[in-house]
Amino acid sequence: MPSSRALTERYRVSPVTVSRALALLTAEGVVVTRPGSGTFVSEHAARRAPARPADFSWQSVALGEGPGGTETLAALLTPPPADAIALSGGYLPLALQPLRALAAASARAARRPYAWQAPPLAGLPELRAWFAAPVGAEPSDVLVAGGGQAALSITLRAVLRPGEPLLVESPTYQGAITAARAAGLRPVPVPMDRHGVRPDLLAEAFARTGARAFYCQPTFHNPTGTVLAPGRRAPVLAAARAAGAFVIEDDFARHLALAAPPPPLAADDAHGTVVHLASLTKATVPSLRIAGITARGPVGERLRACQLVDSYYPARPLQETALELVTSPAWPRHLRAVSAELRARRDALALALAVHLPEAVPDTLPGGGMHMWVGLPRGTDDVALADAARAHGVTVGAGRPYYPAEPPAPRLRLSYNATPTAEDLAEGVRRLARALRSLPSWDAS
Ligand SMILES: Cc1ncc(COP(=O)(O)O)c(C=O)c1O
Repeated sequence: MPSSRALTERYRVSPVTVSRALALLTAEGVVVTRPGSGTFVSEHAARRAPARPADFSWQSVALGEGPGGTETLAALLTPPPADAIALSGGYLPLALQPLRALAAASARAARRPYAWQAPPLAGLPELRAWFAAPVGAEPSDVLVAGGGQAALSITLRAVLRPGEPLLVESPTYQGAITAARAAGLRPVPVPMDRHGVRPDLLAEAFARTGARAFYCQPTFHNPTGTVLAPGRRAPVLAAARAAGAFVIEDDFARHLALAAPPPPLAADDAHGTVVHLASLTKATVPSLRIAGITARGPVGERLRACQLVDSYYPARPLQETALELVTSPAWPRHLRAVSAELRARRDALALALAVHLPEAVPDTLPGGGMHMWVGLPRGTDDVALADAARAHGVTVGAGRPYYPAEPPAPRLRLSYNATPTAEDLAEGVRRLARALRSLPSWDAS
């Protein structure tokens, strides 16, 4: 190979870029470095015949139909382009993550004598106690799982069998729709309004479908930000109980509350109706993949069996780190700081919408979480708008993937967590307004 200096000059790149490229080629086995004599194309790479593309088409026949919906889920986890303003994304941005507290927690965790040994199968006892507390349950009712999504998948498979219906709020978290379909279930929409799911329609849906479970997010629902009204809590539980069904409560955003949140629905349940899911990722970092599943009665045993077969247990160092973090003095400070920032960003987004895009009307001003659910003018294609918005330099979530069936009206999910300043949020909304006006359906009159 030419010298690094020659490569730097020939390709007009910095020495750092050249050394990174060489490191990559070395890792791939394409070049080898011999200290003192230079870098050489490896004999193996030099001899390798030009590859003929293999024919994998037989696999499509062998695999058959796929689970569907995983592309939109993967898109949800893909970071926006660097030059775009993000009005999308489901995790705290770097600047709001508790990175120093986490570094300290993981260092302390790694020094614990049994950090790398197998944990108790259901999770570290102190962590189970921490997850049990808000529900008013016993630590022995908790199973520690590897993140909210895993907790959801395990619960669906523990409670239901393929082919069965699962009642879901409409709209709902698209990862729940995807997980339900992957488990062979049929998500059945139950409409909600600004006060949460409609208990009368829930009871009707139980009666019509014979469903044995209802998946819901009573607190800071994703995508709408809704909180289940106090007067609806008992009717929802009663509807499930009358049907002999479980309520799967996804309490994913409890730690992103702007003021004291209502207690979990599970705290009102005396009969083992509610399986409560709590995740740590949303208030921390995406990779602190630790969640708690709290469930009373024989379903707990079923849940533990499901996780055992899947993955045994979440890695102990991560459980130890989570425990160190949530029991440290830094934890309440972190939550307070995040809450104040999210409030400022929520208000700035609401103001920017009112000023620059009055056609997009928020359903509610969310009291927690990170998303605002906005209505669009009739006839707007929300998926086309999300694409146009990206082309205009702002990323937003189209509403359609959040509906298990036909959406009643076009909507967008706008996330206010990722963009730091009011000016950036306003610029994001101005770009979105330009995108809306660029659509063929836009009627300037
Ligand atoms: C409502 C809801 N539940 C669960 C999850 C899964 O989160 P995690 O697996 O990172 O804990 C998400 C993530 O977006 C969510 O929005």
